[in-house]
Amino acid sequence: MVRLYQSGIIATGSYVPDTVITNHDLEKIVDTSDEWIVSRTGIRERRIADKDMAASDLATKAAQMALQGSGLTASELDMIIVATVTPDMNFPSTACLVQRNIGAVNASAFDLEAACSGFVYGLIVAAQFIATGACRYIMVIGSECLSKFVNWEDRNTCVLFGDGAGAVILGRVEEGYGILSHILGADGNGADFLTLGAGGSRNPASFETVEKQLHCIHMDGSEVFKFAVRIMASMAEEVVKNAGLRKEEVDYLIPHQANIRIIEAARKRLELPEDRVYVNLDRYGNMSAASIPVALDEAVRQGRIKKDDNIVMVGFGAGLTWAACTIKWAV
Ligand code: UT7
Repeated sequence: MVRLYQSGIIATGSYVPDTVITNHDLEKIVDTSDEWIVSRTGIRERRIADKDMAASDLATKAAQMALQGSGLTASELDMIIVATVTPDMNFPSTACLVQRNIGAVNASAFDLEAACSGFVYGLIVAAQFIATGACRYIMVIGSECLSKFVNWEDRNTCVLFGDGAGAVILGRVEEGYGILSHILGADGNGADFLTLGAGGSRNPASFETVEKQLHCIHMDGSEVFKFAVRIMASMAEEVVKNAGLRKEEVDYLIPHQANIRIIEAARKRLELPEDRVYVNLDRYGNMSAASIPVALDEAVRQGRIKKDDNIVMVGFGAGLTWAACTIKWAV
């Protein structure tokens, strides 16, 4: 028989590398300006991983922090899901590397790829295992080392992205708390708008793929922008409605951190004041799947999110994909 348990976030952690690249640093390598980047995106600086650091290293640090806050030992984790578009390698999964690094000997482990929507996708996948009683504690991580896949000569993309990782532990919570509603979606017709084309079975790595920079991120910025503004606003509104909440009952919005203008669209649709939206893209840029969990961890640590608060998370990304959820904070 299927048992149904309510699942919620019981601990958070995050990590960003120390090295800071400011907009002024970028002015020295591509034809751009601090003024253009700030006015079009809201980004002022981003963190960049060292040469020898990969997604699993960032993820491990975030995971250890979440574990510490939870009071659990690594062996109590039943599953590890890592959402990433920048895995250490095609296989083994980054989740298996994290499992080894933290000593989560009883955890199954796999990666999930839904680009910038990946963390919320991971959370909802994890919630199904908690609901049935199949798992008691699940670590969900968003980790990205995007700097390794950026063409540092392409001003259209290199100013946007940064590296980091955020982790949460999902567990059973009291009835009425935890994940109240969610929306997951995709539209593969927009697959070509945001791609990292080489290194897979379509275009295996070759001299030609490297020469043409196909192993780097390519983006039709304005197409993604139009989609993002529409989807962020409509999904934020819909997921709140699905939770049976009124807009004024929303305490905090944790949006994907891609562009301040896109975040504004979601904030306005929910009629929230600016201080109820967590924004860190000025400091970190777009960290894809890591953006939402890093923002969430910072908001929790700053005491902005408290027990009983209604939180909305909403993201969009390559695929195209989108994901949103409403959570009543349980701890
Ligand atoms: O997580 C999902 C990932 N992606 C996104 O969320 C990106 C969504 N898109 C965006 O955020 C925006 O479309 C961008 C920030 C990428 C661009 O802003 P925009 O207001 O849509 O600008 P645009 O694409 O219309 O480009 C305007 C101009 C172009 O010049 P021309 O063709 O009009 O002469 C670009 O070449 O700005 C130029 N441009 C730049 N100029 C200075 C593009 N990048 C830069 C740059 N510095 N870094």
